[in-house]
Amino acid sequence: MSRLVVISNRVAVPKARGVAGAQGGLAGALNAALKDRGGVWFGWSGQESEDRTGNMDLQRNDGVTTATIDLSPRDVGEYYNGYANSTLWPLFHYRIDLARFEQRTGEGYERVNDRFATSVLPLIEADDLVWVHDYHLIPLGERLRARGVENRIGFFLHTPWPPTRLLTSLPYHERLVRTMLAYDLIGFQTTEWLSSFVHYCETELGAQVDRETGRIDFEGRTVIARAYPIGIDWDHFSALGETEEAKAAEQRFLASIRGRTGMIGVDRLDYSKGLPERIDGIGRFFDEHPERVRDLVFIQIAPPSREDVESYQKIRAELERKTGQINGARSEVDIVPIRYVNHGYSHSELYGFFRAAKIGLVSPLRDGMNLVAKEYVAAQDPEDPGVLILSEFAGAAHQLGLEGPNGKDGGAVLVNPHSPDVLASAIRRALDMPLEERKRRYQAMIGTVRDDNVRAWTTSFCNDLAAG
Ligand code: G6P
Repeated sequence: MSRLVVISNRVAVPKARGVAGAQGGLAGALNAALKDRGGVWFGWSGQESEDRTGNMDLQRNDGVTTATIDLSPRDVGEYYNGYANSTLWPLFHYRIDLARFEQRTGEGYERVNDRFATSVLPLIEADDLVWVHDYHLIPLGERLRARGVENRIGFFLHTPWPPTRLLTSLPYHERLVRTMLAYDLIGFQTTEWLSSFVHYCETELGAQVDRETGRIDFEGRTVIARAYPIGIDWDHFSALGETEEAKAAEQRFLASIRGRTGMIGVDRLDYSKGLPERIDGIGRFFDEHPERVRDLVFIQIAPPSREDVESYQKIRAELERKTGQINGARSEVDIVPIRYVNHGYSHSELYGFFRAAKIGLVSPLRDGMNLVAKEYVAAQDPEDPGVLILSEFAGAAHQLGLEGPNGKDGGAVLVNPHSPDVLASAIRRALDMPLEERKRRYQAMIGTVRDDNVRAWTTSFCNDLAAG
């Protein structure tokens, strides 16, 4: 079996206390694959150093080797805060209104991708599989090819891929997409993002595309593009349910809501997560049913993210204002309808909170997948499961929003997160949903959450990459 070289902007540090969702599950799965196959995980240390010397920090932890480099403050400004998070992230989440198009940051992005290629090159051995992750590192495969790397190289995009007419608003869009054709295998979270990518290749590049097999032929190279929906680390996450920490967190949550129904949201504080829109929906619900402030309490856990980027500062201020307004208008001396928390919890604690909350509210405006939705389902008691309210614009809706056998109720209650009325009526429905229906919906979701897990995802991507 070939060794694996994983390259991503962030490298997971084992046992780090983090935000819920993608990072935790991904870290576990990639660590497992790296342990099985051997190899190394390369990326940014997360540190800035002014006088970077090009040194790499090599560490061996629990059978996995990580190799990290520091970036200069200028690199972080132009590559991470700039092109990756102020241009590609908003654009890929359909927010061209927030996207900034600056030549300087574009150059910084290319410079750091070059630097990643130079630094990782000595770590790559002849038969290694190389797996590059996410929008920070799109041109990296091409930079490795330019340095003579002939290994199989795969790329996985964790975010959505935007429709062609949005992508063409990016200056030099063609240059960026052409670099992707240096990979052998490109993975997307859903067939929707895949199909937008294939459409671009066909209409903008004039590539030959076979939609059945995902084969794209362009200028003498062949690339395969497919959907590989990522899942949670089921074994690890479900085992957390047995921990004292999870049980204590569940009790703490239940004691604090004093018989009301707890509704929970857990998201990085990012405009793609639809947080102000969510609060508007909750506000609408209490406008329509003021008396139900005694039935429902909403707990939003939202650790701040990418705080040096202006659009993230704005979204935080907006959320604070909206939450404050509703609490001011609807609270009683003994009742506060919204609890808003700005820090993260451990995965075990989140397990406990998810299990205690009878409604999980996951309403991003656009999301590559969303693993919080899957973790919420995984943490439910099969005999008394909670209801998942899920945005139809999250990748996870492809798996969890399926219609049930009677054509009426499937798994999650799907919502359009832009509409306060739709959110308000979904909340009312979830709050009053009979046990039988909650069980039916849970049963419609749990199979895919358990079986299409992150280990299956890693295996299937690596097998396809190795197969050639
Ligand atoms: C998303 C991205 C990941 C990223 C994570 C956290 O899930 O797809 O690549 O690591 O957000 O964002 P951050 O900027 O803190 O790495």
